[in-house]
Amino acid sequence: MLVLGLMSGTSADGIDVALARISGAPPKSQTRLIAHTAVTFPSAMRKEILRVAEQQNITAGDLSQLNFRLGGVFADAALAACRKFRVAPKRVALIGSHGQTIFHQGRPVEYLGAATASTLQIGEASIVAARTGITTVSDFRPADIAVGGQGAPLVPYADYLLYRDAKRGRVSLNLGGIANITVIPASAKPANVFAFDTGPANMVIDALVAHFSKGRQRFDTNARSAAQGRSIPAILDELLRDPYLKILPPKSTGREYYGRAYTERLLALGRRHHAKPCDLIRAATIFTALSIVDALNRFVLAKHKIVQLIVSGGGAQNPLIVAQLAAALGGIEVLPLSRLGVPEDAKEAYAFALLAYETFHQRASNIPSATGAHRPAILGKISYAPPR
Ligand SMILES: Nc1ncnc2c1ncn2[C@@H]1O[C@H](COP(=O)(O)OP(=O)(O)O)[C@@H](O)[C@H]1O
Ligand SMILES: [Mg+2]
Repeated sequence: MLVLGLMSGTSADGIDVALARISGAPPKSQTRLIAHTAVTFPSAMRKEILRVAEQQNITAGDLSQLNFRLGGVFADAALAACRKFRVAPKRVALIGSHGQTIFHQGRPVEYLGAATASTLQIGEASIVAARTGITTVSDFRPADIAVGGQGAPLVPYADYLLYRDAKRGRVSLNLGGIANITVIPASAKPANVFAFDTGPANMVIDALVAHFSKGRQRFDTNARSAAQGRSIPAILDELLRDPYLKILPPKSTGREYYGRAYTERLLALGRRHHAKPCDLIRAATIFTALSIVDALNRFVLAKHKIVQLIVSGGGAQNPLIVAQLAAALGGIEVLPLSRLGVPEDAKEAYAFALLAYETFHQRASNIPSATGAHRPAILGKISYAPPR
């Protein structure tokens, strides 16, 4: 089966598209990434996504309109990818579309008299299916929440399929807006795999860069600003006192915690310490690396022998994050995912192609030890292509 995966993460930078060829069933499924590409959101689109995700005076109408408009954008991204890959859409059997996360409350909180967890990914899949003519699986996370999980992370299923190794314990690290790790001990079974969000990856860095450049720049290309900054230990210490780091996994986080209010507090902290913009960007960058190291030391390395850390996501292009990780994790080889044959930016889109394939075959693909679910769940909803 040819399957397209569509992913837009919490960075809301754009849509990654991966085309995979998949056959068989786990543990003997055969999967290959054939091609991948990315479409950047126009800045008005990104602004609106962030406005809605930051819950700034939006109406139900805004949310509904954005859901359908994004469905169109996802469909266009899928069609553009098909043209680029020279694959006719009718040869593609299935799309797995993650959608754009607008809200994520993985752990239940009291709401109208009942403990409630919820998550919302938008980008109307009926539009994707109708416009592409390809049956589309979307909305993967709610089924896991419905069986007591946090609805995240879901990529560990793909990590397990792709990177398990009989002899080597591995950790897969994705540096999107948020950083998350999947721990795959040597010769692991799915039940031995666990995963959680360690904290921010690029989200805070991006927010600082956008703030200081008045929106002209979206991210700190190749850590250029951070490299010019000086380290201010008091700021880093304060960031490392973050209570999120101490919460036991499974845990997941997002813009609700590391969004605008967090950045405002960090800016205030910077002013108290007379930090220059590049000093603060440096602090956020080092914090990303050290919060990951902290998570590994606290929750992983005492129990499991890990020999490789496989890095993916846009943050894999940030040399300061990668160098800090390598320096702090002596004895663990830090290597970019591309060394295992999958480009760093294609991984999550590829994962949602794999997850869609499982759903289409009515197989569960959450990993309960990663999400905290009580039991396996078949993830997602299916929007059928119009009859041919
Ligand atoms: N050359 C680069 N240098 C530094 N950071 C980069 C570079 N390329 C991408 N990034 C970072 O990666 C982010 C996008 O990563 P991505 O994996 O798409 O995240 P998400 O899954 O949240 O959308 C950008 O917002 C940026 O912070
Ligand atoms: Mg992205």
